[in-house]
Amino acid sequence: MAGIPEDPVAEQHDLKRALGPIHLIALGIGAIIGAGIFVLTGHAAASYAASGVVISFAIAGTGCLFAGLCYAEYAAMIPVAGSAYTYTYATMGRFLAWIIGWNLVLEYLAAGSTVAVGWSGYFSDFMAKQMHMPIPAAFDAAPFKMEGFHNLVATGAYFNLPAVALVALVTFVLIVGVNLSANFNNLMVAIKLTIVLVVIFVCFSQVVPANHVPFIPENSGTFGNFGWSGVFRATGVIFFAYIGFDAVSVAAQEARNPQRDVPIGILGSLLICTVLYMLMSWVLTGIAPYQTLNVAHPVSQAVEALPATAWLAPYVNIGAIVGLASVVLVLLLGQSRIFYAMSKDGMIPQLFSEIHPRFRTPWRGSLITGAFCALGAGVLPLDILGELVSIGTLLAFVIVCIGVMMLRVQRPKVKRPFRAPLIWLVGPLGIFMCLFMMVFLPLDTWLRLAGWTVLGLVIYGAYSARHAKPPRFKLEDAP
Ligand code: ALA
Repeated sequence: MAGIPEDPVAEQHDLKRALGPIHLIALGIGAIIGAGIFVLTGHAAASYAASGVVISFAIAGTGCLFAGLCYAEYAAMIPVAGSAYTYTYATMGRFLAWIIGWNLVLEYLAAGSTVAVGWSGYFSDFMAKQMHMPIPAAFDAAPFKMEGFHNLVATGAYFNLPAVALVALVTFVLIVGVNLSANFNNLMVAIKLTIVLVVIFVCFSQVVPANHVPFIPENSGTFGNFGWSGVFRATGVIFFAYIGFDAVSVAAQEARNPQRDVPIGILGSLLICTVLYMLMSWVLTGIAPYQTLNVAHPVSQAVEALPATAWLAPYVNIGAIVGLASVVLVLLLGQSRIFYAMSKDGMIPQLFSEIHPRFRTPWRGSLITGAFCALGAGVLPLDILGELVSIGTLLAFVIVCIGVMMLRVQRPKVKRPFRAPLIWLVGPLGIFMCLFMMVFLPLDTWLRLAGWTVLGLVIYGAYSARHAKPPRFKLEDAP
């Protein structure tokens, strides 16, 4: 991965078609596995679904599959930077593009905060148990947390210092444009994948059957609190764990044979992650009672529950620290590219696309992104952040599925390097599955999405609508 060149958009026109199916699958897995499986699984199991979270992973993976195929068609049609935001601006106009762009800020920037908070949980455990230098309690958590569904309670902490420090470090790397070689990135991916595989392999034979009974505890009387409504709510929560699969579609223009390899990349990485996630959540809720998993480092906590698996804990901590840091890097790089594209279109101020004379990176945009990401990571708890990211991303995916179908009708002749198979089945199923996951998320999360949308509309009315330029890209019909 490299720093952003002066004009990422121009660069993308010249990208070499070098990626084969295995590269694309690896790219997807690298972007996907992160705080979702390492942290949110524990929260979803303890608060909503118990072992039923295994089923939640299967449902969310299926929904991502449909949305992912639509996303890939969109991405391959418009080979430029800026992800779904740019595709929408070129096809559905500036207002919907703004709505998508605004929700992608949740997908990338707020997800960056979420993963940084997840990273901090493992880092703090590592410092306390392996290094015997605990981070003071006043500085290793957000100042408040959710208790039950609606109550915010003070934690006694001031802010999450390790999470802020990680975001600052990643921002620095992005600004100076340190060239992180593909090999370095692959190494980080390999480390986290190895840890996931080792945990599954070692813990599988140690599962305590009683921990899986009942697999889905009876509903407590509150909607979403166990029972099937809990399994479905957990689906929306752990959807977070799949975010990043769109990285494969964004690389469509770099694929050697997009029509064949992009679906293989999406389906392959989603299938592998779905299987890994189901196995991992099965063993975690099998070796430790689900009630004990609502902690900042549920995987290392779970392996410590049994003497036969406790030796894994330090390795889990190290794997999570390395793996989650790489996800924060990928997310914030993605965010700076989206802000860059929005700024080039006049949707947000020009300073977001200003390039540093020496580092050749959009340094102001990265700095502002980093500042907001650090703020979120410092003061917000992981469950609030994760659920907000999920709902915002799901909304963006609904719009993408609609857009792809609309274009099939309005512009049937446009060149489509990749066509989603059975679009009239896949598109509606993508919309249905994403809406389904959204519907089961807590009311508070909907209210936060509403607040976020209102804020976005105010900025759109006050600034973007007045400054927006015509789209830089037009769809061309095939000859
Ligand atoms: N899917 C990514 C994660 O779980 C965002 O961290």
